[in-house]
Amino acid sequence: MRNIVENHVEEMLEFLRYDKSQWGNIWEKLKSKFSILGEIEKSLGTPNFDKLERRNFDKFLYDYRELVGKDSIAKRIRQHSKELDLKREDFITFLGVFPKSVDWIVVEENEKKVVFENLYSLWEKGELNKVSEAVFQSIVHFRKGELMGNFYNKEKIFEEINEFLAKKEKDKSFMKCICEILYEKVPYYDWVGFYMINDEGVLELGDFVGEPTEHVKIKIGEGICGQAADLKKTFIVQNVLKETNYLSCSPKVKSEIVVPIFKNKEVIGEIDIDSHYVSPFDERDKKFLEGICSMVSDYLDK
Ligand code: SME
Repeated sequence: MRNIVENHVEEMLEFLRYDKSQWGNIWEKLKSKFSILGEIEKSLGTPNFDKLERRNFDKFLYDYRELVGKDSIAKRIRQHSKELDLKREDFITFLGVFPKSVDWIVVEENEKKVVFENLYSLWEKGELNKVSEAVFQSIVHFRKGELMGNFYNKEKIFEEINEFLAKKEKDKSFMKCICEILYEKVPYYDWVGFYMINDEGVLELGDFVGEPTEHVKIKIGEGICGQAADLKKTFIVQNVLKETNYLSCSPKVKSEIVVPIFKNKEVIGEIDIDSHYVSPFDERDKKFLEGICSMVSDYLDK
């Protein structure tokens, strides 16, 4: 059985041992060795070797050896393989170099899907140190059926949103504004809304962005929202199909995160986020959304 992650970066950089005039020929040789390169060319076009500079590849190779060499890239994919329902036989991840600005692309080889990870493109964007995360992210998107994409840096997105909200006037549109900016800026947040505890002690839908939901009122303990309020803690469900106490809003939803809003240690409401991806959330989402909820708590206090 093939490995889930195959690293061919050094082999692909073989052309660096030759004069630049030979690079086109070496590329042809590489294409006969790795048939997927021909497939990638069909989508991205042939690299223009005349325009590429040796010193960039040299720098890339230096950084690659520093940053990637010993990284265990397959670890995170394996950790989440249950939720992702990925079988080793279904696909492989191929780490390589393709001098075009696309971070990952899916091609087929002998009826097997290959997720090609373009480390050169990641390097050009200054994100090579995020390679493990970039690979995992591409698998999450591939699992949804996407065939090409670029890495997005969660930390940067969360930082930008925090900066924007810190400056934003805290008027009555504040909670709606949070829904809108989260929905717009985070690629895998596909429904964002607030449920607040009403006079009857039930969670009631407030501001939201995304498709309308039939779950306008949710009892404490019911569904993921009700459980988060009941247990007073953040709930992450990476694959809703594997959760029994779950209220479905749409078959498109694959995962969910719910974070309570506290006032004097009591839950007064929560933020609920649905995603169309399996396993897109991690500790950073939790921390970021807990920060948003504490901002909302302060706002409601005034
Ligand atoms: N899925 C939620 C219900 C609310 S919707 O996601 C908008 C739950 O299980 O509580």
